Amino acid sequence: MSAVRGVVPAIVIVIAVVAALWPRPSDAAGVVNHDYVGAQRCKSCHAAEFAAWEKSPHARAFDVLDADAKKSVRCLTCHTLVTDDTQLGLTGVQCESCHGAGRHYTPDYVMRDQELSALLGLVAKVDERACLRCHTDASPTLGAWNWQSKRELIKHWKD
Ligand code: HEC
Ligand code: HEC
Ligand code: HEC
Ligand code: HEC
Repeated sequence: MSAVRGVVPAIVIVIAVVAALWPRPSDAAGVVNHDYVGAQRCKSCHAAEFAAWEKSPHARAFDVLDADAKKSVRCLTCHTLVTDDTQLGLTGVQCESCHGAGRHYTPDYVMRDQELSALLGLVAKVDERACLRCHTDASPTLGAWNWQSKRELIKHWKD
């Protein structure tokens, strides 16, 4: 009996993973298909984290660009989540810039399962390498980069 009980959840997980990763038709012609859902979707369950993020410079990273820069892929790569369409609400440095594209891990039953959510793309532990993708020598850093102190400045988690 216990062997059967172990097999059933395993099958459910396999079906969930296959269904989630199955190729889909593109959502809109001409727009590059992507798996981002946007910060508003995360807000529905993570209101406190959203409130902290909303006050951070990351939330404003698109708004600070001038009109020309808002059309330049060269700038958008670090100032938005997706560069191909800035009308989708996926601008600025969003939750998914650090935690990974959320389409597959955001369903409630997936989020409650640490193993399954990691399998479906959630990056729970965000390390310094994630920051250095954008915080490079090319970005106009006012002071020297310091992981510990910069990390404190975007804090939206419990210790
Ligand atoms: C349907 C509700 C829901 C949505 C939508 C949701 N989450 Fe979650 N998330 C949860 C729950 C429940 C947990 C389990 C941990 C807890 O008790 O808070 C969790 C945990 C997490 C964790 C911690 C995981 C760990 O192992 O410590 C991260 C990071 C996270 N979510 C990020 C996100 C991001 C980013 C989005 C949007 C792309 C998002 N979540 C959308 C409900 C949700
Ligand atoms: C490699 C990633 C990257 C690219 C590409 C990039 N930026 Fe940035 N940008 C950053 C980072 C990171 C910061 C924050 C630096 C800091 O304050 O430590 C920043 C800050 C800024 C700021 C200052 C915002 C403020 O609140 O004062 C402006 C303006 C800006 N960038 C404009 C641009 C423009 C225009 C382009 C395109 C020519 C561009 N960036 C391309 C990463 C990038
Ligand atoms: C610039 C990168 C970055 C962005 C943007 C970001 N996070 Fe995080 N997030 C982190 C880091 C770093 C941690 C701490 C992870 C660790 O040390 O394990 C974290 C932790 C979390 C946790 C775990 C909370 C806990 O108490 O353990 C949740 C949930 C979470 N983030 C949700 C979000 C949501 C929702 C958003 C958008 C509203 C967001 N994050 C935006 C980097 C980011
Ligand atoms: C997708 C690109 C991107 C990633 C990834 C990213 N940042 Fe940023 N960050 C930016 C941009 C762009 C700004 C400038 C926003 C503005 O000033 O409006 C910024 C600004 C900041 C600021 C405020 C300015 C400063 O230097 O004091 C802090 C703090 C910060 N980021 C910390 C982090 C940390 C910590 C991580 C990793 C956990 C991280 N960032 C990951 C692009 C990024």
